[in-house]
Amino acid sequence: MSETASINLGEKTYELPVITGTENEKAIDISKLRDQTGYITIDSGFKNTGSTKSAITYLDGEQGILKYRGYPIEVLAEKCSFLEVAYLLIYGDLPSQAALDEFQRELSYHALLHEDMKKFYDGFPSKAHPMGQLCSLVSSLTAFSPESLNPNPTQDDINLTVLKLLAKMPTIVSWIHKGSLGEPFIYPQNRLDYVSNFMHMTFGQVTHEIDIDPVVVDAMNKLLILHADHEQNCSTSTVRIVGSSECNLYASISAGISALWGPLHGGANQAVIEMLEKIKDDGGDTDKWIAKAKDKNDNFRLMGFGHRVYKNFDPRAKIIKKACDDILAKLGINDPVLEIAKRLEEAALSDPYFVERKLYPNVDFYSGIIYRALGFPTDMFTVLFALGRLPGWIAQWKEMRENKEPIGRPRQVYVGAVDRDFVEMAKR
Ligand code: SDX
Repeated sequence: MSETASINLGEKTYELPVITGTENEKAIDISKLRDQTGYITIDSGFKNTGSTKSAITYLDGEQGILKYRGYPIEVLAEKCSFLEVAYLLIYGDLPSQAALDEFQRELSYHALLHEDMKKFYDGFPSKAHPMGQLCSLVSSLTAFSPESLNPNPTQDDINLTVLKLLAKMPTIVSWIHKGSLGEPFIYPQNRLDYVSNFMHMTFGQVTHEIDIDPVVVDAMNKLLILHADHEQNCSTSTVRIVGSSECNLYASISAGISALWGPLHGGANQAVIEMLEKIKDDGGDTDKWIAKAKDKNDNFRLMGFGHRVYKNFDPRAKIIKKACDDILAKLGINDPVLEIAKRLEEAALSDPYFVERKLYPNVDFYSGIIYRALGFPTDMFTVLFALGRLPGWIAQWKEMRENKEPIGRPRQVYVGAVDRDFVEMAKR
């Protein structure tokens, strides 16, 4: 006998089916609720509402567990390259060496941008925010890839569209950085792997070859893996709902980039560094700023702290915090904001306000310190989050399309004016 949920409305009782996921998560299926009862449910921010059934990422916020396609994030971050994890998320399995080599070859082949795209870069002021540029540039790929607009794409069309986006993103991102510096663009090199190529295009020079430090490449691989997917977060939900209208992949991803930009979401990694810098410049009094974060009359929040789902340590934050210590030590960098971050974390984790609300450091709390140590400017941090999240967005968009999910169209409860008499202009 399958489990059901009983709901009593007036004199009637309705039985609603309960579904159970492979990790024993339970959900009440309300897809027929309005037809049966005339009622809908309402849940601002979808804090208790599932939008889909997905086989890509599983997380348990209470236990601090995160898995991609069944593999724990700790194992993937330790043993894989970002490209292996991208392949796993998009195609469902870890690649063989031959499959990975073919994947890398395809991405090298498609890494160049159409030369006409340079005109878009010329149009941006040098201080245009990198996330605003990224939204526009990713959406502009539709202009150079007609197969991406095919209303009834074949599997090959979709796979070519996926490969082109994954291949061109590092080039798009590195050229945004070069453009902000007024430096010449550096072209991709087929002899380099995905992440090394990105570092080459970002920090390379036309006048001389640069050495790409393997410590830096390893750190970048780890950071990108930790950002690669995170089930139905704000930006992924945006990608899925935009894609549900049969909108092309590039425009769907561009919408996700916009959602990620917000300081409550991916924009938090930039906001954390700006917060730490402000505390440092203010004399480093962490107790003062903890008090501000707790004060309801003060709109200051401890950026990089708290999470909609993790009510325990964000497992990614644990890995990033350790990586932070390792990388700064290996690079011989002593960043004063790291000490402030550690003091803030220590103070918050023993403060009843944060403990009662189960507010812990999240993925954004330490990532900015590493990005800065690797040489990235602060306003590029959320772009790097997008570079990491791209395979997850792609996998989620593909899953939604392959499962033929309906166009997303939530309901509402109307609370506005009812039956007003029209008033002629002369009498208003
Ligand atoms: C990401 O969803 C994902 O998976 C996202 C992400 C991913 O990989 O895609 O993990 C990436 O977006 C991480 C989160 C990055 N954002 C920040 O670090 C911004 C600071 N954090 C907060 O704004 C907040 O914690 C959110 C937005 C992350 C979560 O907010 P919720 O779930 O809507 O919770 P809430 O705002 O209702 O807060 C509950 C309580 C409130 O106090 P009370 O009204 O109960 O008294 O906790 C307080 C909040 O005021 N609170 C904080 C706080 N976060 C929550 N108080 C001070 N500082 C904070 N950071």
